[in-house]
Amino acid sequence: MNRQEAFFSHIEEGNTNKGEYITLGSAMLDGKAIKNAFVNIPLKTMNRHGLIAGATGTGKTKTLQVLAENLSEKGIPVLLMDIKGDLSGLAQPSPGHEKINERHEQIGIPFEAKGFPVEILTLSAQNGVRLRATISEFGPVLISRILDVTETQAGIISVIFKYCDDNKLPLLDLKDFKKILQYATNEGKEEFEEAYGRISTSSTGAILRKIVEIEQQGGDIFFGEKSFDPQDLLRIDENGRGYINIIRLTDIQDKPKLFSTFMLSLLAEIYSTFPEQGDSGRPELVMFIDEAHLIFNEASKALLNQIESIVKLIRSKGVGLYFVTQNPTDVPEAVLSQLGLKIQHALRAFTAKDRKAIKLTAQNYPDTEYYDTASVLTSLGTGEALVSALNEKGRPTPLAATMMRAPMSRMDILTDSELDNLLDNSKLVKKYNEEVDRESAYEMLNEKIEQAEAEELKEKARKEKEVMEKAVSKSRTSSTRKSSAMNPIVKVLTSATFIRSVFGILTKMMKK
Ligand SMILES: Nc1ncnc2c1ncn2[C@@H]1O[C@H](COP(=O)(O)OP(=O)(O)O)[C@@H](O)[C@H]1O
Ligand SMILES: [Mg+2]
Repeated sequence: MNRQEAFFSHIEEGNTNKGEYITLGSAMLDGKAIKNAFVNIPLKTMNRHGLIAGATGTGKTKTLQVLAENLSEKGIPVLLMDIKGDLSGLAQPSPGHEKINERHEQIGIPFEAKGFPVEILTLSAQNGVRLRATISEFGPVLISRILDVTETQAGIISVIFKYCDDNKLPLLDLKDFKKILQYATNEGKEEFEEAYGRISTSSTGAILRKIVEIEQQGGDIFFGEKSFDPQDLLRIDENGRGYINIIRLTDIQDKPKLFSTFMLSLLAEIYSTFPEQGDSGRPELVMFIDEAHLIFNEASKALLNQIESIVKLIRSKGVGLYFVTQNPTDVPEAVLSQLGLKIQHALRAFTAKDRKAIKLTAQNYPDTEYYDTASVLTSLGTGEALVSALNEKGRPTPLAATMMRAPMSRMDILTDSELDNLLDNSKLVKKYNEEVDRESAYEMLNEKIEQAEAEELKEKARKEKEVMEKAVSKSRTSSTRKSSAMNPIVKVLTSATFIRSVFGILTKMMKK
């Protein structure tokens, strides 16, 4: 057996599966694709998360496109975060190209052009299915993390949520949240003080300023109804193909806070609503985050911790998360260490720092007698990548420089009329794009304040009348006004009960 034959059987053996899998392309030796030396990823390990990395223009986004298409064909729904807006072409077949045919000839897979079932979603006012969530759904802990508030301020936020729970005030949008914060130190001051202790204006002021920051990034569009049901990401079309849900985030690059807020809420919502998956042998949903450094760079420490723990937990729900970014170091160590699939496109060695990064990256790949990993990393062509996956037993597959297959769909965006047409036919657009502003905390508190003011006026009138009558009758009866001071024992009891229940809520949230 010569070296090439040995390599072929090494790859073939390492990529043979009992269950279902998708094929990325063929393994390469000495810079050439070896026909039919397929590199396969078992569906069974696709909930183990992954990374697609490499310099600009090396093929990361096309790899993402290839993965999404092949998962869809297997009936697995996909969610894509489209930061650059270059993925909508998934809905249309590739026009084909001589180069694509050559590529597929070398790989050994016949090229087929086809479009896929696509749904376009948006966080802002762009065209697409509107993604929204309510403040109540976020809960006090997540809201505090997103706002990046101090511990004292987080305590106040918990009190506010508790008050709204106790008084059945729905917290839907930022308008509600701001109103109740103002209420707690103005009209509702005494009520709050009696039940929960003093709330300082400087703390609520600080929280309000943080809310304004979120608002300026478009949070007022995001928070509210109708909140998005993550089950709608799991649709399968009439031909058994999984829907590819594309979230257009082209206008989000300068709004990192909104983006990470959304990501985290979606992950939390998926985590709390999806059932625990046994060993089903395939993922329920696969999510790709292009330009992932945008989430990590801007996230606070608290938010990062939250992301890290959700990444760990969400696997059991059958959800695979794939990060696409230029440099693996963009992704926190705690997340990197959990990744099963690594697809590394070419890296460029311009500076000493680059060369160091390449050496480090190479060390993170399994050893192989066929490659000098560091030099392969700099010599990979466009649409070629080093692939290391997990086999069905959860062990690493043989490291393979891989010529990736081409996307079956268009490697470009939809035209305006194609996009309009797609949205016109979308069931989800019909479901979610209606504006609703139902009665919530804002309206209810306003009503309460108005009522209190009316009562105050009545009370004043009544008292004036009393004084007049007293003067007339010259009676010397003293006022029987009840003291508003609470019995101290009752006060201690109330606050202890309250602290316990908030603590209970908090620990429940943290465990999630
Ligand atoms: N698998 C592939 N098959 C065919 N062409 C590819 C493939 N990957 C990359 N290319 C070519 O390389 C270009 C850049 O790829 P892209 O995925 O946009 O790079 P990146 O996301 O890393 O910046 C594409 O426009 C396409 O022409
Ligand atoms: Mg890209």
